[in-house]
Amino acid sequence: MNLLLRADAVDIGLHVQKGAAELAYLDPPFGVGTTFGSRSPRGGARAQGPTAYDDRWASPIAYIAWLEARIAAARECLSDAGTMWLHLDHRAVHEAKAVCDRVFGRKAFLGEIIWATGNGARGARRGPAMTHQTLLLYAGGREAVWNARDPSLREPFATTSLAMHFTHTTPDGRRFRERTIAGRKYRYYADEGRAVGSVWTDCPAMVANTPLRGETTGYPTQKPVKLLDRIVRASSRAGSLVVDPFCGAGTCLVAAARLGRSFVGADIGALAIKTSGERLRGEGVAFDLRVQSRPSR
Ligand SMILES: C[S@@+](CC[C@H](N)C(=O)[O-])C[C@H]1O[C@@H](n2cnc3c(N)ncnc32)[C@H](O)[C@@H]1O
Repeated sequence: MNLLLRADAVDIGLHVQKGAAELAYLDPPFGVGTTFGSRSPRGGARAQGPTAYDDRWASPIAYIAWLEARIAAARECLSDAGTMWLHLDHRAVHEAKAVCDRVFGRKAFLGEIIWATGNGARGARRGPAMTHQTLLLYAGGREAVWNARDPSLREPFATTSLAMHFTHTTPDGRRFRERTIAGRKYRYYADEGRAVGSVWTDCPAMVANTPLRGETTGYPTQKPVKLLDRIVRASSRAGSLVVDPFCGAGTCLVAAARLGRSFVGADIGALAIKTSGERLRGEGVAFDLRVQSRPSR
């Protein structure tokens, strides 16, 4: 059962059974201090399109308090096998880490992904230009899924490494290397590649934000499907439930549906729900649409 919901993320628990989800992907407003306008998928100036969402806050403290309540609500949705991915940038991610430590417990921190967006460097007058965003990963319980062997989490070994170390071959022709670490023997196969690690450079943001590419909806801050595809593959299994309480243009929902997961996607904005709905229909994905009448922040 898929559900697209117009609601405040703080109320996600009213629509998702406690402990039902294997992945919660949260891509909230980053605390930028501006409003975001949309544009037509075919192009045009962003500022002239209808406002998609407001990212202005009374203070950084007000923003973090707002965020904490929504992280806590998402945490309630997660099963023992669940993981939360919180997507932010340099503006708030450090305070948000402390919030997540409070909500999940410090030991639940699984690590972070640095997503190098591939966008050009801007605004570098007072310090380094920010060309990355950060995703914090927290385990919902003891059995958090991590599909390390999924091909989307692998990349080819370096050519030099292949030439130097992968000197053995199995009877059926697979090249491999063996290493003994702390008395244990490990075998690595060349055709499986190595783990992509925590710095992701191969999911360009531009793909989701240029009218030249089919996946662009015109909704601002839309993320590339490739990024969400990897996240969904990494932290959930086929048939499980994926929750996205800030679904925007619905990128995570599309990735989840394509990978055979069900989803609950929520957003407070009418344009986001319209955009996600059209996108899902275009994919041939069946879903229920629900509007929760409750004042937002
Ligand atoms: C960064 S965008 C999400 C983009 C999305 N991941 C995508 O790929 O299109 C943040 C979204 O949070 C939504 N939002 C803001 N406040 C919200 C709230 N209280 N509850 C739910 N959604 C909210 C905005 O309308 C906006 O669509």
